[in-house]
Amino acid sequence: MIIVGARPQFIKSAPVIRECLRTKQVDLQLINSGQHYDYELSQIFFNQLGLPKPVLNLQVGSGSHSSQTGRAMIRIERCILELRPEIVLVPGDTNTTLAAGLASAKLNLPVGHIEAGARSYDMSMPEEVNRIVTDHVSTMLFAPTKITERNLRSEGIARNRIFRVGDTMLDGLKTAIPLAKKQKPSLLGRMNLTAGEYVLMTAHRPANVDVQERLENIVNAILRISKSLKAVFPMHPRVAYRLKSYGLHRKLKLSRNVILTKPLDYIKMIALLDSAYALLTDSGGLQKEAFLLGTPCVTMRGTTEWPETLKSGANTLVGVDSDRIVRSILRSEKRHESIWDSKKTGNPFGSGRASEYIVRTVLSKTAQLSNET
Ligand code: UD1
Repeated sequence: MIIVGARPQFIKSAPVIRECLRTKQVDLQLINSGQHYDYELSQIFFNQLGLPKPVLNLQVGSGSHSSQTGRAMIRIERCILELRPEIVLVPGDTNTTLAAGLASAKLNLPVGHIEAGARSYDMSMPEEVNRIVTDHVSTMLFAPTKITERNLRSEGIARNRIFRVGDTMLDGLKTAIPLAKKQKPSLLGRMNLTAGEYVLMTAHRPANVDVQERLENIVNAILRISKSLKAVFPMHPRVAYRLKSYGLHRKLKLSRNVILTKPLDYIKMIALLDSAYALLTDSGGLQKEAFLLGTPCVTMRGTTEWPETLKSGANTLVGVDSDRIVRSILRSEKRHESIWDSKKTGNPFGSGRASEYIVRTVLSKTAQLSNET
């Protein structure tokens, strides 16, 4: 059983799901918690990434962290008792990841955590709590990089539970790039953009967008940047709501160089990222994608769970200080070419075959576990 529910999980698990569908020994049960429910955050990815219809949508929806996680746990427990899977796989670090990991472990089911071991060492991030707890209740920890493997070892997790397989986001990117390259000319044309002359940006973290002063800093930075470069801003529903309620949406709309859009599908996002002058973001996954595509990244956070991307200045952490954001964006320089398909450079995120290794490991370990019982 694979349990997903939020946008980044659809993206991280898609290559694993496709690998399961290709492997005849696997009988896959896909469950959607329904944490994300807007078309642009959910169904669009099922359609575009060729994911099968989930066996169940648990319609957990939004709410405070505890109510969302609690609701998800209760419904996931019911669903596991009904469908009786042999193992549960949970990707990423969302509240759905935590709920699925805990509910499965409490039913004594083996749990496989995809993207195990990522640490920002900032416990004020909800995702950090989710990552740590999920890792410690998991039976198989699929670490994407050497650093994530080391993090798990330093927390006392036994070596035989850790599998360094590479990052499934790289697998997904490899499939997406040819499609993105094909779409790019018409996409850039429709949006009136020139490759290398626009900044792509996203902001959705509650710590940034739910605090008026911080969101004002971000908006002021975009307005200053837009004097020299176009800015494309696909808005997560949370930031769209906050921009309107703080009266900041109008300010952005009035600038001719700022393009505000709904959240974009995966292929469009990759196409825009590939040709952007730089990325400005507070997302975790986009930092990795920018790094793999060789697009300079400026991250509006004080810490990152992906220190691999900081090497050689490809990613810079700037918090939400307007001056630092503007300075870092305007001084952005390409530090390396794209490495998503490179065989020569040691890509810290693996070789793009993580999904294959995960499915293979799951098959051999579940066979081993059922022999032991
Ligand atoms: C979640 C993940 C985060 C991930 C992000 C990507 C957790 C703790 N956080 O954050 O790691 O980076 O997804 O998108 O799980 N909303 C809608 N429509 C939707 C979904 C959400 O309008 O389809 C709005 C609701 O007002 C909701 C708010 O967004 O209250 C937050 O949604 P939630 O799923 O709680 O967290 P995200 O901020 O999306």
